[in-house]
Amino acid sequence: MTDLATLPVPVWRDELEHEYAALAERLEPLVPCLEIPLHLPWIDAINKLKKQRGAVIMAHSYQSPEIFHGVADITGDSLGLAQAAANCDSDLIVLCGVHFMAESAKILAPEKTVLIPDLEAGCSLASSITAADVRALRAQHPGVPVVSYANTSAAVKAESDAICTSANAVQMVESIGTDKVIFLPDEFLGRHVASQTKVELVLWHGRCEVHEKFTGQQARHAREQFGAKLVAHPECSPEVLAEVDFVGSTTAMGKWLEREKPARVALITECSMADNLRSQFPATQFIKPCNLCPHMQRITLQNIYACLRDMKHVIEIPADVSLRARAALERMLAVGRRESV
Ligand code: 13P
Ligand code: SF4
Repeated sequence: MTDLATLPVPVWRDELEHEYAALAERLEPLVPCLEIPLHLPWIDAINKLKKQRGAVIMAHSYQSPEIFHGVADITGDSLGLAQAAANCDSDLIVLCGVHFMAESAKILAPEKTVLIPDLEAGCSLASSITAADVRALRAQHPGVPVVSYANTSAAVKAESDAICTSANAVQMVESIGTDKVIFLPDEFLGRHVASQTKVELVLWHGRCEVHEKFTGQQARHAREQFGAKLVAHPECSPEVLAEVDFVGSTTAMGKWLEREKPARVALITECSMADNLRSQFPATQFIKPCNLCPHMQRITLQNIYACLRDMKHVIEIPADVSLRARAALERMLAVGRRESV
């Protein structure tokens, strides 16, 4: 049997041009064309190694196009990936996304091995709050339940009553059945949710370092200069959300494009996500915002290859934390996705 740990670095061979012609055509509008022959040997090597290992590669919509289109078996938003992990047949999951997503996969599939190609792929929202902060908030607001965004650590999820994503935040808050809820940690998502429900929300001061950078002025510019329809993720500031035609989660934006078929659109969200959607809607012209998530960008073809070759980095979560976090995540999976967002 091949010693996978000593596999050579993948290099170009001429047959790749033919074998990956369809993929190269899909990537052409999305990545600089000189990069495609550099990516293909790695894509080919990963796909072969993935089969040898019996692994499933799951990639978040913010992954770069060569990962999203080249090696992922399952793509989606954070809710979609959590659902996929819970129902996955393979014993080995490689999560191409950020750390909290890999933790959610492990919590929902505890008997499986979950790998992340770079342990440092974090998230400014997840690092904005600790389990001790949640306990302190509970002490300040006795009896008030906690709904935490999926963008939190396993330890924070374990202190929460339920988890939500941007695809079901309003629905999750309302499903608790109280007139007040502690909603963590994204302040902007929290304000957006508060504008859509009668439930009173106690908010935290977490921010997404990517979405908080967009300004109302940029949104107005896209509309006035390019006549574009505007779509934004609810992690953007209220000033931005007030300017746009549609506010929705990662998946909801795709559904909105399918429904509305705008001639031009500016997607006010992470930049790779705009690229990945662009390839599905060739008739729509995309005005591309360019805020890349630096944490998502830590995942590369090279470290996915190393991850499969060396079986690293394994996600481990203490059993008691995992059990409590699982109860909160399962409460979300039972509710699912709100159709409209
Ligand atoms: P989704 O829940 O829409 O996948 O978003 C996750 C995220 O990190 C957004 O910045
Ligand atoms: Fe976290 Fe923002 Fe990156 Fe999403 S885009 S993973 S919320 S830092």
